[in-house]
This record gives sequence, C-alpha cells and structure tokens, in this order.
Amino acid sequence: MGQGRVGAPLAEALESLGHEVTRWTRQSSPEQLAGQDVILVAVPFPAVQDVAGAINTHGGTAVVIDCTNPVGPGFTHGLGSQTSGAEHLQALIAQPVVKAFSIYGYEVLSSDPSEWPAPRVMMIAGDDEHAVRLVDRLVTDLGWECLVVGGLAASLHLEHLTLLWVRLVRGGGHSPLLAWHAMATSGA
Ligand SMILES: NC(=O)c1ccc[n+]([C@@H]2O[C@H](COP(=O)([O-])OP(=O)(O)OC[C@H]3O[C@@H](n4cnc5c(N)ncnc54)[C@H](OP(=O)(O)O)[C@@H]3O)[C@@H](O)[C@H]2O)c1
Repeated sequence: MGQGRVGAPLAEALESLGHEVTRWTRQSSPEQLAGQDVILVAVPFPAVQDVAGAINTHGGTAVVIDCTNPVGPGFTHGLGSQTSGAEHLQALIAQPVVKAFSIYGYEVLSSDPSEWPAPRVMMIAGDDEHAVRLVDRLVTDLGWECLVVGGLAASLHLEHLTLLWVRLVRGGGHSPLLAWHAMATSGA
C-alpha cells in the first residue's frame, strides 16, 4: 500500500525475487487486499487511519508490515514518544503488525545489495512469532541482515532511530547511504 519512494522500490525488489506483488494505490479497491500473505504499509503516517479500515476488513490473515514513521515538527516523534506508530496501527487492525523497512531513508532501501560492502542491518519488531519469522525471511531474502529487536513496543525505539538517521543525514551532512551495522564475534 503506497507506491512512493518506499513502496515502489520494495515492490520491485520483492517482485525480482519472484513474489507476486499487487500494487495498491489510492484508486485500488479494498477487495484487492483479500488473499494477500503480506500487506506492506508504505503511506504517509497520517494516511494510516485511511488504509487501516480496508486492511481490517479485507486483509484476512495477512501479516502487516509497517514501514511508516510518525514525524512531528523539527524531526520530533509525531506521537510525542508516548506510543509507536506501529502500536497505533496495531490498535486499528486485527492482523499482526511487524515494524520493518522503516529505519533508513529511501536511498538505502532502494540501493543495490550487491554493491554493499557488507550486509546492512534491518531492525524489525513484532509480537506475533509467525509474523516476525515471515518478515525476517523476507528481509533476509532482500539482502539485509535481520535483527529482531523485540516486541511491537520496541517500534518506538526504531522510530527514534529513524529520527536519528534523518537528523544525521538530512540535517547533519552524512551520506544518505548511512546504515546501521551489528558487529559481534559470538552470540555469547
Ligand atoms: N521517504 C523515506 O526516506 C522513508 C524511509 C522509511 C520510511 N518512510 C515512511 O514510509 C512511508 C511512505 O514514505 P514515502 O517517502 O514512500 O512517501 P511518498 O513518496 O510520499 O509516497 C506515499 C505513497 O502513499 C500514497 N498515499 C498517500 N496517502 C494515501 C491514502 N490516504 N491512501 C492510499 N495511499 C495513499 C501516495 O499516493 P499518491 O501519490 O496518490 O498520493 C504514495 O503512493 C511514510 O510513512 C514514511 O514516513 C519514508
């Protein structure tokens, strides 16, 4: 849902992996959401309210990926850091929500993984184990190192991480390809 700077490249990348992708736009009928395994929400945060009804009614048992970021004035958190946008969406729909593809600007999302010097980390968060596993697989297939950072409540931290990225890149002169890495020599 949403064919902008985030939705369009993700749709293309998923299609190139062989997934069947339906591009849902403002003009699409809500019935097109029926039978989807995954619904990726890539609309501006204020539009979440508009699309949530269609997901709830027609989304069946789909896993919902929340790519949105609630951004307030001066790169503050749009919900006053009281709750995450992902939890806000989850309160509107029955389908399990996983936060993913949200912590970078579109430049990173649309860059070619084969040109990355090392796998970049995509942090995701969600409460539903099956949903998290499925999104983990998609993220990994798309070339990312996937790091599950916690339940859906951890999305608030991811949304703050996005704000940090935005401050560093849009305001601080860092490269728009700035990406987070997780370095560890062992899991101990
Ligand atoms: N831009 C980034 O770098 C970035 C990175 C990560 C996450 N995000 C988040 O991802 C989301 C999308 O960002 P974006 O940069 O891709 O935005 P965008 O380029 O402005 O695209 C937004 C898309 O959502 C559609 N849309 C808007 N309102 C809608 C509605 N009420 N119903 C259905 N579709 C609607 C737009 O359709 P129309 O063209 O018809 O308006 C457009 O296809 C945002 O929540 C943003 O915070 C953005």
